[in-house]
Amino acid sequence: MVDLWIKDGKIVPENKLISIGISNGKISIIKKIAPKREEVIDLKGSVILPGFIDAHVHFRDPGLTYKEDFRTGTMSAANGGFTTVMDMPNTLPPTNTPVAFKEKLKIAHKKSLVDYGLHAGVGKLEDIKTTAILGPASFKIFMDQLDDDYLNKVFMEIRNIKEDKGSIKPLITLHCEDKEIVQKNTQFQRNKHILKPEIYAEARPPKAETKAVSKALQLACEYDLNIHICHISTRKSLELISKAKISNSKITCEITPHHLFLDSHFLNKCGNFAKTNPPLRNQDDKLNIRNLSSIDIIGTDHAPHTIAEKNNDIWDAPPGIPNLETTIPLLLTEINRQNITFNHLKSLLCVKPSLIFQLASKGYIKEGYDADLVVVDMKKEDIINPYNFRSKAKYSPFKGFKVKGKPVMTMVRGNVVMDEGEIYKNIGKLAC
Ligand code: NCD
Ligand code: ZN
Repeated sequence: MVDLWIKDGKIVPENKLISIGISNGKISIIKKIAPKREEVIDLKGSVILPGFIDAHVHFRDPGLTYKEDFRTGTMSAANGGFTTVMDMPNTLPPTNTPVAFKEKLKIAHKKSLVDYGLHAGVGKLEDIKTTAILGPASFKIFMDQLDDDYLNKVFMEIRNIKEDKGSIKPLITLHCEDKEIVQKNTQFQRNKHILKPEIYAEARPPKAETKAVSKALQLACEYDLNIHICHISTRKSLELISKAKISNSKITCEITPHHLFLDSHFLNKCGNFAKTNPPLRNQDDKLNIRNLSSIDIIGTDHAPHTIAEKNNDIWDAPPGIPNLETTIPLLLTEINRQNITFNHLKSLLCVKPSLIFQLASKGYIKEGYDADLVVVDMKKEDIINPYNFRSKAKYSPFKGFKVKGKPVMTMVRGNVVMDEGEIYKNIGKLAC
């Protein structure tokens, strides 16, 4: 018995119309023509894609909900075409104990519009094992905050868990910036007492990232663990990772839309609204759309702050850019410009994230998979206006960018959670 039919959605790149029968939140049947007299959503030939998966968001819940919470964060996700999000652990308290992890699961369950996973943090070594049992999406390591000695101990601990418990496959996600280089350069630049925002890029230079990437690659080999390197920002980092991948299949990496589309001039243009870690790079160092074929996934690093916080000086304003509602329009625009293909988009935001984070029921429009779907209007033109974001953070360095292509409907396990910008239902659950 089919609960709902989605009629005449166009799958791409095949350019074929299909109808999708949904039962109990799953895609139960795919046909050319939907039968009459059943509940139907008629897409009239609009493009339909698997729901997008964002493996890197900061929802600030609990503890920092004045910046964002699970409800507004997932409203922002639904509006941006994302059906699964994975939340980072730097909340208050941080998600690095079983108690904090369970507490955040409850919050997410209560407030989420879309499905979710939670990354765990690392605090006390003894909490790693007990948190691993709860099934975190990964253990997230901020290398810009940890000493090498502790880093080694964390890898050792996670390797031991892997050996103990065959069923748990712990993944490590890494923010790669070297603590010592960042601290030394930040102090040096701060002492100059210059407040122009471009100086931030010099406080966290490319070599801080490449040194940390090299270290992460070496640890992955030494401890034989899967690692995922978050938000790479330099060509040199990608070179190191691509070389390491030749002999080690357990390494993956991610890029954000801001590191892909913006350069360090935006620090000058947008001030602290373009301040993020790692910082935006100059044209010679930065990655661009031609590098995408060597990168596994796009993560938004949706990192909301308040405008009041961003109005502090360059050193005191917090780093982070809210990106859940800019990423897909920016990428659909690149498809319209023929710079990337639909297949590549699906790989970066559906297939590979589901593979890396082991979401067996997500990532494809196929029978048996969750009915997580997004409908996009490839002709819709817009100008990015943060005032319209569902996120609490109504700023963006992409403000004023012209885009062509927009998500117009988002469905999570057969439930419409966004239709033409209207937001419905609170049905998110733990993604699997
Ligand atoms: C992150 C945040 O705001 O939580 N900010 C960012 O610029 N990516 C934290 C961080 O990664 O340092
Ligand atoms: Zn982040």
